[in-house]
Amino acid sequence: MSMTLGEDQLIRAWDAHEEAAFTALLDDIYNLHDHDFRGYSGAFLRRRLSLAMSRLEIGSVDQLRARINSDPRVFSTVFQHLTVSVSEMFRDPQYFRSLRDDVLPILKTYSSPRIWVAGCGAGEEVYSIAILLQEMGMLECSLIYATDINPLALRTASLGIFPVANLPAYTLNYRAAGGEATLADYYHVAYGTAVFDRQLRRRIVFAEHSLATDAIFSEMQFVSCRNVLIYFNREMQGRTINMFADTLCHRGFLGLGAREGIAVTGAAARFESFVKPVKIYRKTPEFY
Ligand SMILES: C[S@@+](CC[C@H](N)C(=O)[O-])C[C@H]1O[C@@H](n2cnc3c(N)ncnc32)[C@H](O)[C@@H]1O
Repeated sequence: MSMTLGEDQLIRAWDAHEEAAFTALLDDIYNLHDHDFRGYSGAFLRRRLSLAMSRLEIGSVDQLRARINSDPRVFSTVFQHLTVSVSEMFRDPQYFRSLRDDVLPILKTYSSPRIWVAGCGAGEEVYSIAILLQEMGMLECSLIYATDINPLALRTASLGIFPVANLPAYTLNYRAAGGEATLADYYHVAYGTAVFDRQLRRRIVFAEHSLATDAIFSEMQFVSCRNVLIYFNREMQGRTINMFADTLCHRGFLGLGAREGIAVTGAAARFESFVKPVKIYRKTPEFY
């Protein structure tokens, strides 16, 4: 009977030497490849690097350092392991229901609301928001910036193509989020994939942007950054939340993932809860 090792079984304890090599590896990745993972959660990095090393059949962090510096394909594999972009459309449907019921009616009072989906992955979240805007009659006047550090994920997102196997889950989520039509109205199936209507992305700008190293670029009315902060350490979470407060207009909105929050970030005073159970916040007036 053949057995496949699970992720947990691939993770092993790192000795003191490996810990030092790990810090040097993150410095190399920053200096040579321009990606800064030094503010990510140590536990996340160790887990994903262990997994990448196992896949690449590399036995030590020193060896990984040597290979990453000499072989771009090794960097590419490690990078894909460090930028997990697994998601679903309308993931956590109550979040999207609350956007529909509570946030978008207020955004509708702006002549041209700007929305930033930061860390958009392969596009599930941004297409979900575009569908909401369409159903609220707001897509035409809105502008959505969808950014990520992973160019492969961004490319998938900009094509709007998702596996057919994911559609049943997406459809259930869409209904639970209060969808007004049927999800099938927004895609057609071709060659085993669901191709989403290109009209949905007529107001979306896809761009590479790192929350670790890049600056803010426009005033926003709403930032949706879900399931990204979870990978950062507390200091970087705080810096990122402050950056969102800086980019948001007076009383702008921030939406986070179900397992994320602003309480421990040192930036909590800049926001107040707007819809607490689904992690939607609003910028506090005194910090305008
Ligand atoms: C789990 S996905 C979340 C996708 C989407 N927000 C959602 O919830 O459906 C996490 C995404 O964060 C991106 N990411 C990780 N670090 C980032 C950074 N420093 N700046 C921007 N995006 C980042 C990854 O590339 C990945 O696509």
